[in-house]
Amino acid sequence: MVRVLFVCLGNICRSPSAEAVFRDLVAREGLEGQIGTDSAGTGAWHIGNPPDPRAQQVAGRYGIAMADLRARQVTTRDFADFDYILGMDNSNLANLHRLRPESHAGHVSLMLDFSDAADGEIPDPYYGDLSDYEAVFELLLPAARGLLDHIRSTHNL
Ligand code: 4NP
Repeated sequence: MVRVLFVCLGNICRSPSAEAVFRDLVAREGLEGQIGTDSAGTGAWHIGNPPDPRAQQVAGRYGIAMADLRARQVTTRDFADFDYILGMDNSNLANLHRLRPESHAGHVSLMLDFSDAADGEIPDPYYGDLSDYEAVFELLLPAARGLLDHIRSTHNL
């Protein structure tokens, strides 16, 4: 099983959206048994909460379900449990590198490193409006495709 963890600050906007977009693609390709997904936040404010309603609304427009997801905080155990840990912005990535045990052999990078369409950061939409959530999904869709292509070729799936 290849395990992928998506990480942002609150785990209610960007990383659950990334998880939902990616797991939808994984399911459509029949790879649920080979690729596992989860998401987490570096912050603790929203632990136990469902995704932001604005993220759920935009996900619905793409036919993507995410109401089942609940926020949790990243732990050092995650570095033992996940092969790929992907931050949404440079601040998430810096936090991940701070938490990362020396022994961790997995992949830690930005989500958009897997996109041909864009590189850099997925901006935090929390203080924005629906158009900011729309922009998040438009960045996530090609990145999820690129990530799945990478995992399929790297792990012969
Ligand atoms: P996320 O967005 O990191 O994409 O989930 C945020 C959600 C909540 C907060 C910040 C960012 N907050 O400060 O509560």
